[in-house]
Amino acid sequence: MKKNFKEEVDSRKTFAIISHPDAGKTTLTEQLLLFGGAIRAAGTVKGKKTGKFATSDWMEIEKQRGISVTSSVMQFEYDGYRVNILDTPGHQDFSEDTYRTLMAVDSAVMIIDSAKGIEDQTIKLFKVCRMRGIPIFTFINKMDRQGKMPLELLSELEEVLGIESYPMNWPIGMGKEFLGIYDRFYNRIEQFRTDEDQRFLPLNEDGELAVENSMKQSSIYEQALEEVLLLNEAGNDFSEEKIANGALTPVFFGSALTNFGVQTFLETYLKFAPSPQPRMSNEGEIQPDAEDFSGFVFKIQANMNPAHRDRIAFVRICSGQFERGMNVTLSRTGKSMKLSQSTQFLADDRSTVNEAVSGDILGLYDSGIYQIGDTITSGKKPIQFEKLPQFTPELFVKVTAKNVMKQKQFHKGIHQLVQEGAIQLYKTLHTEDYILGAVGHLQFEVFEHRLKNEYNAEVNMESMGSKVARWIEDEQINESLSSSRSLLVKDRFDRKLFLFENDFALRWFQDKNPDVKLINPMETT
Ligand code: G4P
Repeated sequence: MKKNFKEEVDSRKTFAIISHPDAGKTTLTEQLLLFGGAIRAAGTVKGKKTGKFATSDWMEIEKQRGISVTSSVMQFEYDGYRVNILDTPGHQDFSEDTYRTLMAVDSAVMIIDSAKGIEDQTIKLFKVCRMRGIPIFTFINKMDRQGKMPLELLSELEEVLGIESYPMNWPIGMGKEFLGIYDRFYNRIEQFRTDEDQRFLPLNEDGELAVENSMKQSSIYEQALEEVLLLNEAGNDFSEEKIANGALTPVFFGSALTNFGVQTFLETYLKFAPSPQPRMSNEGEIQPDAEDFSGFVFKIQANMNPAHRDRIAFVRICSGQFERGMNVTLSRTGKSMKLSQSTQFLADDRSTVNEAVSGDILGLYDSGIYQIGDTITSGKKPIQFEKLPQFTPELFVKVTAKNVMKQKQFHKGIHQLVQEGAIQLYKTLHTEDYILGAVGHLQFEVFEHRLKNEYNAEVNMESMGSKVARWIEDEQINESLSSSRSLLVKDRFDRKLFLFENDFALRWFQDKNPDVKLINPMETT
């Protein structure tokens, strides 16, 4: 039966996976896509074996380094739900990209390697989710390996991340002695390494096995049972409300690689994960089932598919329904335009979108119109969604074209790649020399690689080291304040800023020029 508009919106589940590299994000994503029928073979996401177009692995550099550099979107249907997974780069140099992606989701899945516990990158990403108050579902992975004790992992969640937890299931042993999980939620045992028809064993009202099974005699099972009793008595209560506001995380133990516990996780996740939520705008909250179409650009990516040489603006739909050819207004400029070329994302192909509602991600072909953070709407009144987090670059390089004959490609490449937002472009005031700023070194490497491969422009990069960037209002600009320790430059919007050599130079400058107001964008957003 065809769903009505509200049912369509409610069936959307849009999330990102947050984790430290190597915790198993790719493996879990792949298993989820397999369940959803979006891919047919393991190995597709990483593109190792099949040689097909690999969604989260489209850049050569990514393969060379074995890291996921770019975010992308994967979509599948399961059990009447439309699931959108937004991939996030694991490498810390790309955290800015990841943070913006987290603005576009309604919930997050946090993967933890059972042997490593909570790692640095997870903490950072967790904080962003926390700040937004979105629900976080935890998957403790690699139970087929010897790891930390489950109770220890739970206390790490509470102590390191400061979030309450509720184990939805509990492991029975681990590593070589991993027997399965005690499913507290569905009141059954899910056996590891067993015939499919015996995978689930029911529990009676006292939480004991209702059927004869060799597990009953095992001391590992007894210990798990004792721990579950302890959790029942002393653990947190299950609370849907706390899950919804991000105060409590449901915890699932499993093993992505052996596809154990993943399906139960997916089904339970879909049950409790939020559908698209209202979003704050300058005109108040926008309801996901409001009639007018609205959305915001959270990512721009050039040359998604090198064969097509296109650039795509990723739009999170926040209300209404997308229709091909519809007219929208770009709030920043007030300009009206027709959305005729668009795409939705699947794991193994990019197919043309026909129906997309709140929660879905739209890819709009972009000829340079959009900026990150832009709002588009079909409504009469232009609205603007909340600002996306912006990060001040800390590392800077001077960049020039190696071959003066290739200036055209060089300029085109720089301007297009800068639009993606991972790297910032500055120019010196009079000579207009190019300076690039980024949060991490890897971004420069990727930039150099892409300029060469996608624009056929080789570059020279001269490191300027780390700098502290502070913006200055136009009326206060005085070029005599510029020196080698406080270099005055302009950004791509022609706003002026100083690049201070270090914090000391910044303080010294401020002492000497107390009337000059220096602006740190991190503090104003
Ligand atoms: P990531 O995207 O979070 O970086 O992690 P990824 O899925 O690539 O997994 C990292 C490594 O951990 C991979 O092994 C993967 O096979 C392994 N792994 C993932 N889930 C599990 C699990 O449940 N149990 C066990 N034992 N291992 C798991 P690798 O040898 O580094 O890479 P690969 O060459 O096998 O891909």
